[in-house]
Amino acid sequence: MKVLGIETSCDETAVCLIEAEGDFGPTFSWKMLGNALLSQAKLHEQYGGVFPNLAKREHAKNLVPLLSQCLPKLPLSHVGFTKPNIENLRKILEREPELLDQLIPLLEQHGRPDVDVITVTYGPGLEPALWVGINFAKALSLVWNIPIVAVNHMEGHVIMSMMGHSNILENVGMSGKLNVFEFPVLALLISGGHTELVLSKTFGEYRLIGQTRDDAAGEAFDKVARLLGLGYPGGPEISRLAAEARNDNLVADFKLPRPMLSDDNFDFSFSGLKTAVLRLVDGNQLLEDDKRKIAREFEDAVAEVLVAKTLRAVEAYGANTVVVGGGVSANKHIRSELAAKLETIGAKLLVCPPELSTDNAIMIALAGYFHTLNKDFADPATLRATGNLKLA
Ligand code: KG4
Ligand code: ZN
Repeated sequence: MKVLGIETSCDETAVCLIEAEGDFGPTFSWKMLGNALLSQAKLHEQYGGVFPNLAKREHAKNLVPLLSQCLPKLPLSHVGFTKPNIENLRKILEREPELLDQLIPLLEQHGRPDVDVITVTYGPGLEPALWVGINFAKALSLVWNIPIVAVNHMEGHVIMSMMGHSNILENVGMSGKLNVFEFPVLALLISGGHTELVLSKTFGEYRLIGQTRDDAAGEAFDKVARLLGLGYPGGPEISRLAAEARNDNLVADFKLPRPMLSDDNFDFSFSGLKTAVLRLVDGNQLLEDDKRKIAREFEDAVAEVLVAKTLRAVEAYGANTVVVGGGVSANKHIRSELAAKLETIGAKLLVCPPELSTDNAIMIALAGYFHTLNKDFADPATLRATGNLKLA
């Protein structure tokens, strides 16, 4: 099955085309036919976070060029291709005129690609950004007469981490299979918008065990980075300074809180941690070494809480596999702490290479493929962006 993936939930515009076969299990395998991604992070840096309308505009500008980077790899045919009804397309892309202007020549030039399903993120994320990808999927679905599968972005992160990969940095040539593991699986989802522990007994079934009561882990990294005068996204910046501090044996002479560490539940809270950093920073002239110490202590605090609660949940729910997904799972310190602690209790850790931990279209195509097997198609007439879409 050939699967087109489209991701526009935040500040990455991504399109990919994969070929996949088999069921959710050892028979499954996939390979990349085309992959294209543009990050807008640099554009949003001046706002210290993602500015929704700018994200929307950029997605509208970038989707067609990215799709055409994936398309030449496809055998094209005019079978089943109807000349685009411009009026219908205009209605679908009413709010994305720039996208429409680029799409019409592309559609006229290419025939109908040999694609079986169009998978697109419909939430959670920024609604103006999500709509661009959804409307794009609807337009392609109409012209090419290909069904749509709507994918939960967080499920995409989970599925991506369940995969084992080869040639991960190849846009064409990357391939993979599912790792060998057993359900129930505990998923730790840590991204810019989410911090959740989710229990899964089978593919597609999720139960929320715990979540953040305020800021998400990634949000805390981004806010603390801003307090320290670092760039956006803050996670990689903090992580870099923290690694330097560890390397130079720089230890803080202060301690940041470990919020909710000893509470008897699986919830998190990160806003107090950010406030504690604010108090350290406020009115003080920070030297580079001060910033490194804060970064290290902050990263330690986040890692400690995430690891402790995950371990407790593993034991409480009898899960022997932990899947970590979302942008924060790119963090080396959190990964290595989790790996070390899970090993002590004999639980398996599944996490994808850092390059695949942040947003991409591959994870959407992979999750969408399994939903296609279940014939879980979306009705284009009612498909909507759902900013606060829940996994469980
Ligand atoms: O999953 P993602 O790419 O987008 C969302 O769905 O939110 O996650 C983005 C978040 C940002 O907050 C970013 O600072 C964080 O992931 N992040 C990291 C690292 N790389 C990205 N946080 C900590 N350490 C990293 N190395
Ligand atoms: Zn994400």
